[in-house]
Amino acid sequence: MTEQSVNAGNSPDRLETLSDIDWSHIRAARDGADLQIAEPWRSVFAPLLAPTTRASFVIGQIGQSLDGRIATASGHSHYINGPAAIAHLHRLRALVDAVVVGIGTVLADDPQLTVRRVEGPSPARVVIDPQGRMPRGAKLLAADGCRRIVVTRPRAAADLPGDVERLDIDDDAGVLAPAAIVRALTGLGLHRVLIEGGALTLSRFLAAGCLQRLHVVMAPLIIGSGPAGLSLPTIDRLEQALRPPMRAWRLDQDLLLDLDLGAGG
Ligand SMILES: NC(=O)c1ccc[n+]([C@@H]2O[C@H](COP(=O)([O-])OP(=O)(O)OC[C@H]3O[C@@H](n4cnc5c(N)ncnc54)[C@H](OP(=O)(O)O)[C@@H]3O)[C@@H](O)[C@H]2O)c1
Repeated sequence: MTEQSVNAGNSPDRLETLSDIDWSHIRAARDGADLQIAEPWRSVFAPLLAPTTRASFVIGQIGQSLDGRIATASGHSHYINGPAAIAHLHRLRALVDAVVVGIGTVLADDPQLTVRRVEGPSPARVVIDPQGRMPRGAKLLAADGCRRIVVTRPRAAADLPGDVERLDIDDDAGVLAPAAIVRALTGLGLHRVLIEGGALTLSRFLAAGCLQRLHVVMAPLIIGSGPAGLSLPTIDRLEQALRPPMRAWRLDQDLLLDLDLGAGG
């Protein structure tokens, strides 16, 4: 397994390769080994390797087209990103304690949310499902030794297999506060969290200031219509826009934009 990256910040031509050995070092560092990880991988993965001195570390990811879309208007979304970008997503999964998606993604894609493209452990799988719409047969509920957690409202009537954990969070007009979800996951021992999507779920965590990092993986593709990746409350002036520090790397044909949102936690 090899993969190209380019530091597009200062030296756009500098190519780096993530070898199996680099990846095994990154995984070992995630488990507490005191290892020096080479750049550029140190910059990309260091936040997920640092000891959890804060209660939580939350990273989001989104794969999108150049015009910020995640699917066509009819919902076709497989696949916007290439194999290197998908491997990157699986590496993020392997480094976190929990991966979170909204129920919309479960109903649209029925994802497994396991680590398959790289060596590494699969994280706990968490679905935000305030209305109890989760199908019992969803693939991510498969009993494979990983924790499976459905985050819902206290009043929701969820029909879940007995070995699936249920996490009740008080809602505000149907909305579960992302900060409350993060706190509750921390309480379950899940400190490093990946918000994988979809658009609404990720946008809510971003709007609530609950992401420390965001990996936007941009595909060289213009869809021109269809759902947007990120939607935030309306602003009037550009000074109000988020302008996070950003570094860019190449994942084969895709660009990884690593945004440092610097949220507290
Ligand atoms: N490109 C990518 O990187 C990527 C990654 C993952 C998914 N996707 C795509 O994203 C699409 C799905 O996105 P989506 O925006 O429609 O759905 P979604 O974000 O997966 O799920 C949204 C639903 O989850 C529940 N939810 C999430 N956060 C909540 C909160 N804080 N409080 C209350 N409820 C919350 C709500 O359920 P209720 O409506 O039941 O209240 C909400 O409607 C799919 O097409 C999938 O393929 C793309």
